[in-house]
Amino acid sequence: MNSAGFVTVSYIAATILFILALGGLSNQETARRGNWYGIIGMAIALLATILGVVTRHYTILIIALLIGGSIGLVLARRVRMTQMPELVAILHSLVGLAAVLVGFANFMDHSIGFTGVELTIHNIETYLGVLIGAVTFSGSIIAFGKLSGRIGGKPLTLPARHWLNLALLLGAIWFGREFVQQGAVGSGTVPLVIMTVIALVFGIHMVMAIGGADMPVVVSMLNSYSGWAASATGFMLSNDLLIVTGALVGSSGAILSYIMCRAMNRKFLAVIAGGFGTGGGTAAAGGEIEGEIVAIQPEETAELLANAKEVMIVPGYGMAVAQAQHTVYEITKVLREKGVNVRFGIHPVAGRMPGHMNVLLAEAKVPYDIVFEMDEVNEDFPDIDVSVVIGANDIVNPDAQEKPDSPIAGMPVLEVWKGGTTIVLKRSMATGYAGVENPLFYKENTRMLFGDAKDSLDAVLKTL
Ligand code: TAP
Repeated sequence: MNSAGFVTVSYIAATILFILALGGLSNQETARRGNWYGIIGMAIALLATILGVVTRHYTILIIALLIGGSIGLVLARRVRMTQMPELVAILHSLVGLAAVLVGFANFMDHSIGFTGVELTIHNIETYLGVLIGAVTFSGSIIAFGKLSGRIGGKPLTLPARHWLNLALLLGAIWFGREFVQQGAVGSGTVPLVIMTVIALVFGIHMVMAIGGADMPVVVSMLNSYSGWAASATGFMLSNDLLIVTGALVGSSGAILSYIMCRAMNRKFLAVIAGGFGTGGGTAAAGGEIEGEIVAIQPEETAELLANAKEVMIVPGYGMAVAQAQHTVYEITKVLREKGVNVRFGIHPVAGRMPGHMNVLLAEAKVPYDIVFEMDEVNEDFPDIDVSVVIGANDIVNPDAQEKPDSPIAGMPVLEVWKGGTTIVLKRSMATGYAGVENPLFYKENTRMLFGDAKDSLDAVLKTL
């Protein structure tokens, strides 16, 4: 097989594996297999590109691969699960940067002998690649800053921000026309550079305007952008695999953003337009909520659980922080042996990334058949004797349904308060990610088990 044939066949194989990977990742039981498809697909793609496409400069390439690979390995080993969204955000910025650099390199490469329509098409590809890449690059860096707490979570709402966005968009279109109309190869540096600056400013402004509570949507949206940037780069370089892979990432990121918007009852366009959400994690101001806080001890908790018939466990971000998933499963096993029906109710945006809780529970080897999505169990709460809310807050906040002016109004929540007793494990009365008070803690049938979730659950397990 000649070199081009080898590359084509490898690329088709890699594409099929990427599609199988996405299919596998959509379900917990097949996720591991999906991951392997992705790894093998990427290995084939890399090998085919190195052996079949890059014909010179092997030394530089191998050195770059070793440096990049080592940095990636160290980062991935070090990162804690709760920091995953930050890592993903910063990696997206690299995809954006790569698209910008490839765009400029391509633009400066005068050996490309395009003329007429071909040149116009090539210029549009270059312009779009740099545009999407620059927005992704600067937006992802700001997203990283916000997620890691280096930049405050409060949305930056400039008075005329929609006009500013419109002006930036029109500027990008106008300079695009200028750029494409330059007849000769290599001319048009000025409009290209000005557009890059506009796109960088737009990326910064777009993400600065989005509040902490909406950041997950932004990260998956930037994921989508990074895909489209890669796809545009694929067009520039006439690389079919990059086009297809970019489109897969772009469309799956867009679908994920849509699903998350629905889970948080946000309108996608409203999130992008910004000004939503607040900073997070402040101490609750106290005040208007009626009712009393009733604390409970681990021993009483164990008793309640042991005497229950139906138990629903609702994990949240705090379970991830406390790394309590293994103890949760130990308790589950003991209760199940006693004949208690224990189930898990998972909110689609529990934790800090899509599937966060599912990953933790899978790590602790909790069987899949007792782990349910919110919609599958939300009607069952009136029949639940004891709900155990482990380090969750926003996802069980009744205000989302009852207080129309709440920042999380309309977000679907797990209706734990409709059950017999609700036990909430957290360390203090601090708010969750959205920074809003939670009347659940003051309800008559709620008991607060204060302390680190792992310590509290260890004590419960000991008593059981
Ligand atoms: P949160 O509302 O953030 O509440 C987590 C609670 O855990 C806090 O109130 C905290 O209270 C408690 N906690 C922290 N560390 C703990 C520990 N060691 N032991 C016991 N409790 C601990 O979490 P949630 O209910 O899972 O909701 C998720 C929120 O994050 C939503 O607002 C969602 O929109 C947002 N978000 C989601 C994602 C995705 S995609 N899942 C990504 C980013 C943001 P104390 O400080 O009092 O302990």
